[in-house]
Amino acid sequence: MTDTTYDFDSCPDRNGYGSLKWDKYKDSDILPLWVADMDFTSAPEIIAALQARLNHGVYGYTIPFDEPVDAVLGYLQRQHGYSAKASWLNFLPGMVPAINLCCHAFCGPDDSVMTATPVYPPFLSAPEYAGRELIKVPLCLNEKDQWTLDFEAMEASIKPNTKLLILCSPHNPVGRVYTREELTALAEFCERHDLVLISDEIHCDLVFDESVKHIMTATLSESIAQRTVTLMAPSKTYNLPGLACTFSVIENPKLRLQFQKTIRGIITEVNCFGYAACTAAYNQGEPWRQALLTYLKDNYNLLYAFIRNELPQITFRPMQATYLAWFDVSRLGLKNPIKFFEDHGVGLSDGTPFAGPQHVRLNFGCPRSRLQEGLEKIKSALQNR
Ligand SMILES: Cc1ncc(COP(=O)(O)O)c(C=O)c1O
Repeated sequence: MTDTTYDFDSCPDRNGYGSLKWDKYKDSDILPLWVADMDFTSAPEIIAALQARLNHGVYGYTIPFDEPVDAVLGYLQRQHGYSAKASWLNFLPGMVPAINLCCHAFCGPDDSVMTATPVYPPFLSAPEYAGRELIKVPLCLNEKDQWTLDFEAMEASIKPNTKLLILCSPHNPVGRVYTREELTALAEFCERHDLVLISDEIHCDLVFDESVKHIMTATLSESIAQRTVTLMAPSKTYNLPGLACTFSVIENPKLRLQFQKTIRGIITEVNCFGYAACTAAYNQGEPWRQALLTYLKDNYNLLYAFIRNELPQITFRPMQATYLAWFDVSRLGLKNPIKFFEDHGVGLSDGTPFAGPQHVRLNFGCPRSRLQEGLEKIKSALQNR
């Protein structure tokens, strides 16, 4: 049965609102299916909370007050079985600055940072911006043809100066939800090599495959919790990235202090709207999230069947989470895949900055008709070349 409570089929026009996603192709007929920002309006419960905050009329400085703190702690417990304490939290105006600052906080100038590729580009640029060495280890395929961490290659690439590992869980861009076994092996790897683990779990509430469940790294064991910095946000799930409300959870007081010392004077407070949206998302957003997951799953099924049936030259492996589909287009023999698709009316994300050349990423967090239009454009582009 289709959920009629929330409407994901029609969306407001974003032209004229300074949208990163839409303004890139302003005044052109290129359909923007790039950047991780959905076209849906946020949950009505969140809009109402923002409206109420707006109506207060005073927009002064804010501190992490009880409402958002309790909303986050309640959410972590309910959704992920994690009993966190208020003192472990830091609210931040974005995850990207947090990832960059972690490279300063937990890694010296002569140290190195490891991550698994392809991956969200700031994982690759953050060590470089901090002047730290970057060790990139490609993901590999497991016996089920799913992307997974390549522990053999990680063991072979690690160096005595490696201090930090940045994990994307679930993984953007391959959409994989790691199992308990995989995460436990990763925890053992971090313990064996005495690494701090930055666990970016921003996509953890976007698991649309009901047969799998996201496991927070910090809930695996007390020992991995002591070396984990968890980064989370309601932004991807509830389509609030422009409101800049993210948080870190750091159990280990020594790591927490190191992080807090590094961010002071640099990171601003979250603004009053970010707190209002975060509180409403975690306290009231669950019915909307469930409806969103149903819609995303149907979009994914349509996308998957279309690629398999109509465009078998594109390799698209099954995914379990996120609204970001990762296509291997190497068999198309395109010199510049992004330009080719733009020339045929579709704006996708280029795989190269993810360390995935000859790949493109398609955002299916949009009305189904828009996704269908994009797919038809891709199909005719490939037929007419
Ligand atoms: C894995 C991952 N981390 C972080 C972010 C962005 O976080 P923020 O907007 O809070 O900087 C994204 C956005 O797509 C992402 O995919």
